[in-house]
Amino acid sequence: MSDTKTQQILKGVILAGGLGTRLYPLTKVTSKHLLPVGNEPMVFHTIKKLKDAGITDILIVTNPDHIGAFVSVLGSGKEFGCEFTYRIQEDAKGIAHALALVEGFAAGENIVVMLGDNIFESSINHVVSDFQTQKTGARVLLKKVDDPERFGVANLNGNRIVSIEEKPIQPKTNYAVVGVYCYDSTVFDIIRTINPSARGEYEITSVNNIYIQQGKLEHSYLQGEWVDAGTFAALVKANNIVLNRKE
Ligand code: DAU
Repeated sequence: MSDTKTQQILKGVILAGGLGTRLYPLTKVTSKHLLPVGNEPMVFHTIKKLKDAGITDILIVTNPDHIGAFVSVLGSGKEFGCEFTYRIQEDAKGIAHALALVEGFAAGENIVVMLGDNIFESSINHVVSDFQTQKTGARVLLKKVDDPERFGVANLNGNRIVSIEEKPIQPKTNYAVVGVYCYDSTVFDIIRTINPSARGEYEITSVNNIYIQQGKLEHSYLQGEWVDAGTFAALVKANNIVLNRKE
């Protein structure tokens, strides 16, 4: 990131809670995010994407059963050239619920949030630097996919996102919302206003829809391969992306 004029030091968040039930029994005694992807645990790849984008002050949210393993594997962050903070999400009540735990760490500053099960072929630096040019609001990352019904799906009007639907049965576009979200400090006030969805989770899509209503949601597009490694097939694909990338 060469443009230092508008640069601010951003804090990073990795959400690595949840139950990983779709990967059971692989996740019976460990977190999905500690499963191998290529030659490293999955979460290493997320940390490296943040670090590559210049973000080294990183908070990791995980659940009570796995916090010990995360601390054993990751430590203080020194080995990565980062500083890690940890938070425990007692119940897997959704991505926005996990994000609410980050408010004290964010301390009024802008944050970049990554879902710990998203694996990327290429850099996410452009979304971070695009966000740096915004004064307020939020920014999401979109990727055209063949199976949008698995994701949050952006409905577009010209170059604006007009709404996002979470796992729609009949998606209106092929643009999935990728697990990288940039937020200003109002995100925590927004989270306080949302209700659980029909599946009982505090959805990040509900948060993003409020930014849309406020006219404050921007987006960037992702180049290169991307996978949400939450299923067996996707985990295999994640390994292939990383192994091919290393070659
Ligand atoms: O991968 C992108 C998709 O991720 C988005 O397109 C969707 O809009 C978004 O809802 C999310 O969908 P998933 O169904 O894939 O989310 P999942 O439940 O797998 O959780 C994603 C990550 O968030 C996972 O790495 C663990 C973390 N998480 C999840 C929950 C439910 C938490 O830290 N706490 C939680 O309570």
